Amino acid sequence: MGERFRGKVALVTGGSRGIGKAIAKLFAEEGARVAILDVNEEALLEVSEELREYEIYTKVANVVESEEVEVALKEVYESFGSVDIVVNNAGVIRDNLLFKMTDTDWQTVMDVHLKGSFNVAKAAQGYMVKNRYGRMINISSTSALGNRGQANYATAKAGLQGLTKTLAIELGPLGITTNAVAPGFIETEMTRETAKRIGIPFEQLVEASLQGIPVGRSGQPEDIANAVAFFADESSSFVNGQILYVAGGPKA
Ligand SMILES: NC(=O)c1ccc[n+]([C@@H]2O[C@H](COP(=O)([O-])OP(=O)(O)OC[C@H]3O[C@@H](n4cnc5c(N)ncnc54)[C@H](O)[C@@H]3O)[C@@H](O)[C@H]2O)c1
Repeated sequence: MGERFRGKVALVTGGSRGIGKAIAKLFAEEGARVAILDVNEEALLEVSEELREYEIYTKVANVVESEEVEVALKEVYESFGSVDIVVNNAGVIRDNLLFKMTDTDWQTVMDVHLKGSFNVAKAAQGYMVKNRYGRMINISSTSALGNRGQANYATAKAGLQGLTKTLAIELGPLGITTNAVAPGFIETEMTRETAKRIGIPFEQLVEASLQGIPVGRSGQPEDIANAVAFFADESSSFVNGQILYVAGGPKA
């Protein structure tokens, strides 16, 4: 167990599995008290069991609903005394080519990534401003640069980068930095679902993704947690409004 985030309170949305869980675990192992919000109650129970040796708060909350987010943030503040680090990680995909993409596919993705991150950032900033300290990290994607079948997701992830840069400017003077990590292909339930949707074994999707990854391996949730930890570190106070692509190479 490390001490890197000792005394800090870190909130991770969508932290019950995949990338969010790896981020929550890293913070907990490095001494932070960790709050996890997620819509998946079963996975939340599993993660609280897995991390039971640490100080953890979990709550079933939909980031799209501002009231649910406000209630959760208030509870975190009241139980842990501050909100120092926020990671907007909750996400969904509804991939389809443009001509087949429904209004619901479009709106759901916009809502979770953009409205969700807006809601959490807005609720968290009040507590961060009180302390004149904060680290916000948004999880974007290499898809922000364009990806076939992801008009909704690419737009949302590019939008998230705009939010990141704007919050960096607005909140920077108050001791709060905002940055984004943009992962490439990471092995999680989300990419497993993609394999299922296109009807190929997951191993085949991983193999295909390797063609474009210079380091010759696909990404793991811990690779993203490591990059998030860099932005979340107290000593990263001069790093603000940046997008870090974490994809095993320079191109998406
Ligand atoms: N896996 C990848 O290759 C990859 C690549 C780039 C970016 N990302 C991004 O990383 C983040 C995590 O992805 P993952 O691969 O771990 O996916 P995942 O599906 O395994 O995890 C996403 C989590 O978000 C939760 N969630 C979804 N909607 C929510 C809502 N409205 N409110 C609260 N929680 C909600 C889910 O229940 C789930 O626990 C997402 O933002 C995703 O877009 C993933």
